Amino acid sequence: MSNSAEKQDTPGRLIGVGVGPGDPGNLTLRAIETLKSADRVIAPCSAADFQGRAESIVRQALPQITCHRIVFDMSPGETGVQARRRGAKEAANSLLAWLLEGMTLAFVTLGDPNVFSTFSLVAKEVSDLAPEIEIKTIPGIMAFQEVASMSGLNLLDETEKLFLVTAFEGIDDVKESLQHPNAAVVIYKGGRQIARIKKALHDAGRLEDATVGELLGLEGERIIKLAEVEDPSISYLATIISPPTRK
Ligand SMILES: C[S@@+](CC[C@H](N)C(=O)[O-])C[C@H]1O[C@@H](n2cnc3c(N)ncnc32)[C@H](O)[C@@H]1O
Repeated sequence: MSNSAEKQDTPGRLIGVGVGPGDPGNLTLRAIETLKSADRVIAPCSAADFQGRAESIVRQALPQITCHRIVFDMSPGETGVQARRRGAKEAANSLLAWLLEGMTLAFVTLGDPNVFSTFSLVAKEVSDLAPEIEIKTIPGIMAFQEVASMSGLNLLDETEKLFLVTAFEGIDDVKESLQHPNAAVVIYKGGRQIARIKKALHDAGRLEDATVGELLGLEGERIIKLAEVEDPSISYLATIISPPTRK
């Protein structure tokens, strides 16, 4: 804990802490240090009585730490984008008093806080409300790195490229990126589109080499060839990798 006597004069700090995709062994030393020294650890969740995934990783690694939950709920009729923006505004407002008191808040996120993370939205709202608050991030291991590691895949070499695309709202970006044979294509948020993604990979001649990692570090974890997935849809927490086409 930091010294509260100093806090009166110093602006608060909001730190996005990446906790990796699921296995607590992926927490970095910097992440652990930051979580231990913060005045409060903040964890996003979908309901106040429901432990979010980032919180469960913190609990397994550091059971002595209490997480303060921030609810990101979805109102009927809202789109994902609207809900995320409203949730981020509400989260920023609820953290503001602590930050203005000079506290250091560690906001935990799955994977890395600068890649498709709620943290960046919350940080922007906080900056708009109180520009004097210092914003920092601690990088985390990303889901696709864990899939490459667990499946023994050398993701990139020589002059190969990497596309990291999402498929939550359609697979146009997936199809476009598959046109580049010397690029690895990583697909996030593709759980509901699995049949269409399989077809796109098949049409590009890349289905056989594609791997999916689902629920990494969590109950139900599996790493399998995408061609072997028969489910019509899989978890939101699934990451697909199509490696570069190598001769
Ligand atoms: C909102 S993004 C979060 C990305 C995260 N910030 C990162 O750096 O990896 C959510 C997507 O990340 C991937 N993901 C995150 N955690 C995962 C896990 N435990 N297992 C498989 N995929 C995961 C999935 O593709 C999921 O749809």
